[in-house]
Amino acid sequence: MRILFVCLGNICRSPTAESVFRAVSARELPELTLLIDSAGTAGYHVGEPPDRRTREAAARRGYDLSSLRARVVEPRDFETFDLILAMDRQNLRTLERRAPAAAQDRLRLFLDYTPDVGTREVPDPYYGGENGFEHVLDLIEAASRGLCEALRAGEVRPPARIPRAG
Ligand code: 4NP
Repeated sequence: MRILFVCLGNICRSPTAESVFRAVSARELPELTLLIDSAGTAGYHVGEPPDRRTREAAARRGYDLSSLRARVVEPRDFETFDLILAMDRQNLRTLERRAPAAAQDRLRLFLDYTPDVGTREVPDPYYGGENGFEHVLDLIEAASRGLCEALRAGEVRPPARIPRAG
């Protein structure tokens, strides 16, 4: 199972989701082999480590984001990943525009895996205060647990592979 988390800049929300889900799934689903990655729909910060405020908030909860580097979603990602989880509706719409027809059913909102947090979107913390980063972590930890439950229950299955041309 290959899972890609997507936000706008790939320096706040999606690298947090990558690192948190890696830790939560290793603890809750140790028997499952998962490929976990993250990317942005915009290229403003390509090659940069996650935002300092994101790294510091994550580190306070035991997640080390220091080795991650921002990248942009590439056409190949729509073949590689079984599940592509957007942090908000704007990024989901961008993915829907860029993805081929055969990959549309791999696109979801990450918070679809946690029905009880009162929102479907992880808000962009970039221009907000410090509290925004804690809120992002709360939502991502809840959705990571929800996604693990869905995987354990067999509610998430890899779709049939897209045949390669030629
Ligand atoms: P992210 O946050 O999408 O969670 O990584 C943002 C990072 C940078 C910008 C916007 C959002 N920006 O406009 O540079």
